Amino acid sequence: MPVISDPYSFNEEDLYVDLRSICGQPLFLKCEGFNFAGSIKLKPAREMVEAAERAGVITPDSVLLESSSGNMGVAMSVIAASKGYRFLCVTDSRCNLSTRLLMEALGAHVHVVTEPSPHGGFLGARLDYIRRQCARSGRYVWLSQYTNANNWKAHYHRTAPAIARSFPGLDVLFVGAGTTGTLMGCARWFRHWHRPVRIVAVDTVGSVTFGGAPGRRMLPGLGMSMQPPLLDASYVDEAIEVEEADTIRACHRLARHGFLFGGSTGTVVSGAVDWLARGDRPALTAVAIAPDLGERYLDTVYQANWIRDLYGDAVLGDDVVTSDAQLRTDVPETRPASSARSSGKRS
Ligand SMILES: Cc1ncc(COP(=O)(O)O)c(C=O)c1O
Repeated sequence: MPVISDPYSFNEEDLYVDLRSICGQPLFLKCEGFNFAGSIKLKPAREMVEAAERAGVITPDSVLLESSSGNMGVAMSVIAASKGYRFLCVTDSRCNLSTRLLMEALGAHVHVVTEPSPHGGFLGARLDYIRRQCARSGRYVWLSQYTNANNWKAHYHRTAPAIARSFPGLDVLFVGAGTTGTLMGCARWFRHWHRPVRIVAVDTVGSVTFGGAPGRRMLPGLGMSMQPPLLDASYVDEAIEVEEADTIRACHRLARHGFLFGGSTGTVVSGAVDWLARGDRPALTAVAIAPDLGERYLDTVYQANWIRDLYGDAVLGDDVVTSDAQLRTDVPETRPASSARSSGKRS
């Protein structure tokens, strides 16, 4: 029975969903959303803060500062609240409302950048803001998840060994790429210990991380508008890109079976299932990492109007469960299909 006295001491490290019956491929999904920050980011946030404490960089007077599309911000909010630090999260208008409210409930200040910078996009604008704040006051401590080696070390020390313990015969590991902390920590660990595991990075179309053309990306978590400083591509065997529409479909397929995961999990699962289905692959032991759960995405990934506005009606196929789709199937006699479909607003 785990009993804790601070919110970062518990993290469920050994939970997997067997997706074979849902997705038709042998794939085990490692669930990283079961901790008090609700995402995999609790591990790097803790590693970065405690390394800075050990180095004497953080004092009781410090204000921690971080750029985040959401989950790192929540994780830092949890840790800052627990350790008694002030925390300012710099995010942008793509951050889910519920994520922002979560950070504020935990006592963090949230600054939302609303205009992308001409060359660096939203991320560039967030970093510009942070640099201005740091120049203004020495109290700000920016741990910088994009460049901080303790980001990937958290996964080197914890995520990868946990996977190897559960799957000693692992053949292929699918990892989503944002800052690439998870990817690099896992890839380095399997290389260091000479495990013959194929590392497949999963990115989103529109991200430049693996050399793709920049484009619109609406889902937080995966993808970058600049080259991730932590990435060393020599550790990555393959990189695949997934369209956001396919991400939505994968999320809804899982939701139809009662598994409500976050957007980036849909990306990783979609990419992994396609990869496993390609050609004549031998029977493989495959694991994919699910960084968080779906409740933070109710007003985006799981909302009919949001999906339709961004990706068109075609995405709303059989796999996509929405409140209006439920109405269409549950009470057809009280509401014609056409009117139910056009009134997909959430009440
Ligand atoms: C939901 C979600 N998925 C995936 C990632 C990517 O993880 P990493 O930054 O380790 O590449 C993040 C990072 O913020 C995330 O929030």
